Amino acid sequence: MQTDLRGRDLITTQEWSKEEIETLLDVAWDLKRKRALGEPHAYLRDKVLAMLFFFTSTRTRTSFEAGMAQLGGHAQFIDHTTTQISHGDTAKEIGEIIGRYCDGIAIRQCDWKVGNQYIRDVAAASRVPVLNMQCDVYHPFQILADLMTIMEKFGRDLRGKTINVSWAYASSYQKPISVPQSLILLMSRFGMNVRLTRPPEYKLMPDIVEQARDNAKRSGGSFEIFEDFDEGFKGADVVYPKSWGAMLTTEDPEESARIGQKYTDWITDDRRMALAAEHAIYMHCLPADRNIEVTDSVIDGFQSVVYDEAENRLHVQKAAMALTMR
Ligand code: CP
Repeated sequence: MQTDLRGRDLITTQEWSKEEIETLLDVAWDLKRKRALGEPHAYLRDKVLAMLFFFTSTRTRTSFEAGMAQLGGHAQFIDHTTTQISHGDTAKEIGEIIGRYCDGIAIRQCDWKVGNQYIRDVAAASRVPVLNMQCDVYHPFQILADLMTIMEKFGRDLRGKTINVSWAYASSYQKPISVPQSLILLMSRFGMNVRLTRPPEYKLMPDIVEQARDNAKRSGGSFEIFEDFDEGFKGADVVYPKSWGAMLTTEDPEESARIGQKYTDWITDDRRMALAAEHAIYMHCLPADRNIEVTDSVIDGFQSVVYDEAENRLHVQKAAMALTMR
């Protein structure tokens, strides 16, 4: 068990060892149990987390804010429309200045080819830990909550279990690729058989795919790419179909939306769920485009674990804050 995590940034799970991630999960389960029993756990009394949002959020904002309060501290909501963070204040200034006021800095910056670099620039200038609340490349806290949820359903040894990380059609907007990228990176480290299913235009970053392949080799799992939506579901224990933009094919959102029109039938419905294992669970980070990405019958059905996933955001984030911000 690795317990010396004070001061550590969490920008991608790839930068935390498997033992460190196991520690974070142990602490998350302990905090979940304490909350269920009403046991106080104010490990961060008088500490302050600055939360910088360059992009909207429901779950991430509310769970980080609630988590800091439950740990005895305070979270500041710093929005790009009401402050100067998106103009004028440089990443270096933010890291230096907010690092002097607060005990941790959490950032959501999803702009393509900007977000991850911004977070790394803030981290380089900050004396306190920097937590990635989602960037253009990674969404680590979502995927840690997903891992916690999968382990709650299947046990901690996930070797040999198959997860299908699939693209799905959505009409609302071109969603970041950070969720599927983080999923293939983390699940491949726990011995899972990872399938990435997507149309040819919806590729992920080649270096991320290579890292997932390497992770799978090291963990005794496997990594495969499918281009047939139905094929990805067959026999899977975990299905995680969600939409993302065709950023690796075009940076024009309108062109990306036009490409998506070719695949409007990539919707998760009861027929597709029946192709997966009988005990399969359906996952989605939310928000989903209901009856476009997934039917109501699936997302509200007996195989769906979306509310457990959303809840576990709270527990993994509290664990990360308690371990890094003490
Ligand atoms: N899943 C997730 O990150 O939700 P929000 O975008 O609402 O924070």
